Amino acid sequence: MRADIALIGYGHVARRFERMLDEQREALAQDHGLSCDLVATATRHGCVAGGEPCADAFEAIRYVAGSPADLRVVIELTTLNVIDGEPAISHIRSAIDAGCHVITANKGPVAFAYQSLRDAAEKAGVSFLFEGTVMDGVPVFSLVRETMPGVRIAGFEGVINTTTNHILASMERGLGFDEALAQMQADGIAESDASLDVDGWDAAAKTAVLANALMDARMTPLDVERTGISEADRKAVHDARERGNHMKLVASARRAMGGGISARVALRELPATHLLGGLDGGANALILQTDLLDRVAVCELSGDLTQTAYAVFADLVTISRRVRKSR
Ligand SMILES: NC(=O)c1ccc[n+]([C@@H]2O[C@H](COP(=O)([O-])OP(=O)(O)OC[C@H]3O[C@@H](n4cnc5c(N)ncnc54)[C@H](OP(=O)(O)O)[C@@H]3O)[C@@H](O)[C@H]2O)c1
Repeated sequence: MRADIALIGYGHVARRFERMLDEQREALAQDHGLSCDLVATATRHGCVAGGEPCADAFEAIRYVAGSPADLRVVIELTTLNVIDGEPAISHIRSAIDAGCHVITANKGPVAFAYQSLRDAAEKAGVSFLFEGTVMDGVPVFSLVRETMPGVRIAGFEGVINTTTNHILASMERGLGFDEALAQMQADGIAESDASLDVDGWDAAAKTAVLANALMDARMTPLDVERTGISEADRKAVHDARERGNHMKLVASARRAMGGGISARVALRELPATHLLGGLDGGANALILQTDLLDRVAVCELSGDLTQTAYAVFADLVTISRRVRKSR
């Protein structure tokens, strides 16, 4: 099976994914019968489709949509927009309408338009997958979708923003806020606009993604009660350590008795014996509260671009399996 791919957004994640496709070329062919070609890329400073310059992301999407390949896949990896999720939502909508499968690691579209994009994809008979939006390549959405049939998610709590977790852990060791943040930017882990991480927006967007996709909430990041972290939290971090505890930026959501869902991102003091309290700076964890499995936890002990690129890769394999099965 041959897949033609358009990368909309060609930054850190997209480039790592492109290298991974190359590294895994033989395994993809042998294990999944899949061969992939990157036929279009789009950025703000230039777009290419079929080796020729093109006008914009939408033209790149139309190009891949017109390909005769078995799979036409648009991978949306533009910058997170926490105000309204655009232009990623429009990119994804036009890809779905043109009959392309869509993969994204961009939280914006799932945080702002999950239900309508999911419904449009279902109607068009294509997949819309977004494993990389939360906890990189560690399975969260595929875990629930593929392995927990009938289970209802009643709520969750997690440490799901690596940048703030790393800064808090560095502050415990006496490092300054700015120094720790600079390290995360140098590693390409922090969002290009770092205020998205430190002001809690990234965590709020992930909270909305989790609540929308796992709990059928209809919320946006603007509905999530949110606090961030700053140099001013250094004293609280230090005082918590004196008590043997850790300060963590915790994202959570729960279904209230009446059925409504409330969600927040807040700095919490947790004992070291708590799964979230004991996490290292580079780790993330999510605890799902369920009806039939009680509490289920997923941990990512360390993460980098490879793990995020892997999420996109895994979604691509999932799409190829689905298409093969439906034939
Ligand atoms: N980095 C991570 O570890 C990580 C982890 C999980 C999820 N994510 C998510 O994955 C996405 C990509 O992250 P990244 O680190 O690769 O970001 P990045 O390095 O900042 O790259 C973003 C890319 O998007 C392009 N872009 C922005 N607006 C665009 C527009 N309107 N039309 C076309 N292209 C546009 C940029 O083009 P220009 O260069 O021309 O501006 C750039 O190529 C983000 O949504 C991020 O939240 C990232």
